[in-house]
Amino acid sequence: MTDKSENVHNGADESAAADVTEADKSGHKSVSTARSVLPSVGVVGGTGPAGSALAARLASVGIQVVLGSRSKYRAMEIVDGVLEKWPDFDLPITAGDNDEAAGADLVVIATPWAAAAITARSVADRVKGKVVITMANALTRVGDEFIPLIPPRGSVAASVQSMVPDSLVAAAFQHVPAHELGDLSRPIDSDVLICSDHRSAVDAVTELVRHIPNFRALDCGELSNATAIEAFTAVLLQLNVRYKTRVELNLLGIPDSI
Ligand SMILES: NC(=O)c1ccc[n+]([C@@H]2O[C@H](COP(=O)([O-])OP(=O)(O)OC[C@H]3O[C@@H](n4cnc5c(N)ncnc54)[C@H](OP(=O)(O)O)[C@@H]3O)[C@@H](O)[C@H]2O)c1
Repeated sequence: MTDKSENVHNGADESAAADVTEADKSGHKSVSTARSVLPSVGVVGGTGPAGSALAARLASVGIQVVLGSRSKYRAMEIVDGVLEKWPDFDLPITAGDNDEAAGADLVVIATPWAAAAITARSVADRVKGKVVITMANALTRVGDEFIPLIPPRGSVAASVQSMVPDSLVAAAFQHVPAHELGDLSRPIDSDVLICSDHRSAVDAVTELVRHIPNFRALDCGELSNATAIEAFTAVLLQLNVRYKTRVELNLLGIPDSI
């Protein structure tokens, strides 16, 4: 793993400990109450099902989230909807335009795949030196068939990294279904595959994922593996259709002690 980022801000406040409980039986960690030491997260293009679900889930563990949109008013509408849906959670989500979302410590690009790289470029100055997470999958659907598409640089994540060379891009959350992610009434038992060319980006995303109960962060190596991670989503969606379900990723054989 090539880390160009020794002095780069990874969004985490290393001076204070997060309120993380011990790992549970399955090796997952959970948070009882999160504190302000957690990095804030901005979700660029956060008004869709995936971005708004991730925003809600992160906020449910106390992470400050800015949900972004090309239109701040649309972001406000979506945030209002999320807050109304989960009144008991006191979710720390605010609405902003994409530029404001990109001002957070750690930034997620949650647009459709074809817009991810160009959207990242539009906020390049704001995300300089920061961890940028891309969750996009380049796929198309023909009838009941899901077909992975390979973008010119091999993955959406690689395209995003090329547009924001001064940021630390990581691919993550590709396989987490939006509906379950946004349903705060239940935890999701899911592995989150993470890859990046920057060690500190993998570490920052791992830390973020560990705050979500029942999620397990798995370090999948360099960003070149985003090609396989993104394309594999087509397989999972195909399984959903074939077996009339919504699969969640759980890999066997990894020691509980991680
Ligand atoms: N849906 C899932 O279950 C799921 C799970 C994991 C990963 N993902 C990935 O997460 C990403 C978002 O999925 P989604 O279903 O939430 O997508 P979506 O609803 O199609 O789009 C999300 C938001 O992106 C913005 N957007 C749309 N077109 C754009 C453009 N041309 N330029 C800039 N912004 C644009 C829109 O926000 P504004 O109009 O408000 O700016 C839109 O609300 C996708 O890449 C998907 O592959 C989805």
